[in-house]
Amino acid sequence: MSLIVDSFGRKVEYLRLSITDRCDFRCVYCMTEEPCFLPKEQVLHLEELAWIAQAFTELGVTKIRLTGGEPLVRTDCDQLVSLLGKLPGLTDLSMTTNGSRLTKFAKPMFDAGLNRLNISLDTLNPTLFTQLTRNGKLDRVIDGIDVAIATGFKRIKINAVILKQQNDNEIIDLVDFCRGRDLDIAFIEEMPLGEIDERKRARHCSSDEVKAMIEAHYPLQLSSKRTGGPARYYTMADSSIHIGFISPHSHNFCHECNRVRVTVEGQLLLCLGNEHAVDLKSIVREFPADIERLKAAILTGINLKPKQHDFDNNEVQILRFMNVTGG
Ligand code: GTP
Ligand code: 5AD
Ligand code: SF4
Repeated sequence: MSLIVDSFGRKVEYLRLSITDRCDFRCVYCMTEEPCFLPKEQVLHLEELAWIAQAFTELGVTKIRLTGGEPLVRTDCDQLVSLLGKLPGLTDLSMTTNGSRLTKFAKPMFDAGLNRLNISLDTLNPTLFTQLTRNGKLDRVIDGIDVAIATGFKRIKINAVILKQQNDNEIIDLVDFCRGRDLDIAFIEEMPLGEIDERKRARHCSSDEVKAMIEAHYPLQLSSKRTGGPARYYTMADSSIHIGFISPHSHNFCHECNRVRVTVEGQLLLCLGNEHAVDLKSIVREFPADIERLKAAILTGINLKPKQHDFDNNEVQILRFMNVTGG
């Protein structure tokens, strides 16, 4: 049972650990147009990431999701997965990836102990894919998804951020892609991180609109599936897949939030849509390192977890981009 309990009584069992801000794509909703990455010395080293993960599991965290940037661009990613896979108490070790390197890395990751994958796929149109990712190749990602399925990953989830007048005409195609391969899918409302301008506001597409489009083809029933995360899941009569909606604007899930993040710079971030943070890097870089101090900092820091995010508060703008925050 987790000892990490915030001041609103929410238990934290789930850590999202960002292992790099780097990525081989530059998705329009995630990064600035010009790549601008952190200097290497600012990024947590392998041993530091493992220490932080150990501290969280000793406090009762049972789920860790590796995020980025793109986790698979980190060359020691398989070593990290092997180290974390051995942590007692960890029952779920997962990764969110853009899929571009899965043809090469799905099997080594699976063998090293990764048990769940979420893969981003916003469009099935190769030209639009290259535009949205600013340089990605759709074929590589689809091949990656197929290799991950063949490798044995179960209940892979596709993430699709839906943007008006870009990919909002592909919602049924994406559902059919997932029905055909028996994959779950989550449709995501764009979160307002980084600089927000009129163009970003105009492309916002609400989960209710996406759900209405799907229901015109496939009636949906609310499912009991919960991951303690942002998605509300639905099922269809003639398929075993789950369709989720992640709606930070229209249906926030803050009251049942079970997660915190550690950014690639070692900041414990209590909420994606808020700036409260605690510096863990300075503690893991102390010599000799002291895991009890790390655990104490986490237990004190959790009290900073806010009741809910600030996405709907126009006075507060969160200037971090998603790639430095960790998705
Ligand atoms: P599970 O581990 O299966 O619950 O996955 P997940 O859907 O929470 O994680 P994933 O990495 O696939 O993220 C999907 C979307 O949910 C991304 O856009 C994330 O940024 C968003 N998301 C994840 N955690 C949070 C959170 O704590 N708050 C908000 N607002 N969004 C989140
Ligand atoms: N809003 C919503 N989702 C985002 N992602 C990245 N940036 C944003 C954003 N601004 C998604 C990616 C990936 C996951 C980690 O976060 O598509 O699936
Ligand atoms: Fe890379 Fe994912 Fe950000 Fe796209 S959303 S730039 S794939 S980290």
